[in-house]
Amino acid sequence: MKEILPKMLLLTSLALSMTTTAFAAGDEKKKTPALMDGAKAEMLANTCAGCHGFDGVSQGPATPTIAGMSAEYITEVLKAYKSGDTSSTIMGRIAKGYTDDEIKQIAEVFAKKKFVAAKQDSDADAAKKGKKLHKKYCEKCHSESGSEAGDDSGFLAGQWTPYLQATMTDFTSGKREMPKKMKKKVKKLMKKEGDDGMKALMAYYASQQ
Ligand code: HEC
Ligand code: HEC
Repeated sequence: MKEILPKMLLLTSLALSMTTTAFAAGDEKKKTPALMDGAKAEMLANTCAGCHGFDGVSQGPATPTIAGMSAEYITEVLKAYKSGDTSSTIMGRIAKGYTDDEIKQIAEVFAKKKFVAAKQDSDADAAKKGKKLHKKYCEKCHSESGSEAGDDSGFLAGQWTPYLQATMTDFTSGKREMPKKMKKKVKKLMKKEGDDGMKALMAYYASQQ
């Protein structure tokens, strides 16, 4: 059942996105040219809903919630996927479908939406330990307990754990380039705390709802 649920939710959000696309297309005809740009950006952003969820709040654990991230970060990330600088399973192919200008417009749509934390289970003891580790190793850059989306990074608090885990694996294996200073901290963390330390951090981020 656990396996099936995300798929069902994904199908639901696909259906929703198709309905909204249809509405948006109908609306556009009635709009004055001055409003067309905004409508076009919304329509472009609707393509993302199938995976990132309606309004950018993802229901599938391997896909990150992107609502509320800064427009700067979304733009940079999409451009890096497009150029291949950041490796990805699917985003590279998707990002190639948009011009840099369209990417900027789509980023602005999602930046205006509200981040909603994923509902996930977490081990309370591990989360307690994770809170301390976050303060020591990560808070300097991922401020407000990882719940603040800065110009240069996404959310950790309330983000889907499977996505964060996959991302950390990409970082540590070198598939995705880690910022130099983060690399130092992660190395220190892994040396002192090992996999349990990383698990504790993941539990802490999942516990913030
Ligand atoms: C087919 C599913 C799918 C679609 C459609 C899709 N995404 Fe993604 N997105 C993913 C997955 C999966 C990841 C994780 C990276 C990867 O493996 O590709 C991701 C990652 C991202 C990230 C990185 C988030 C972070 O925390 O760094 C951003 C930003 C993003 N997508 C934006 C978009 C936008 C904007 C669109 C629409 C133009 C879109 N995505 C369409 C599946 C999708
Ligand atoms: C010196 C600053 C710095 C420190 C310390 C730091 N990070 Fe980061 N982190 C960043 C930046 C900048 C990015 C965005 C990198 C990019 O997109 O290329 C990032 C990205 C991430 C991401 C990917 C988020 C996403 O949405 O894809 C994860 C996960 C992450 N950091 C976890 C951690 C953890 C866990 C720690 C503590 C062990 C940590 N970071 C410490 C600066 C830092």
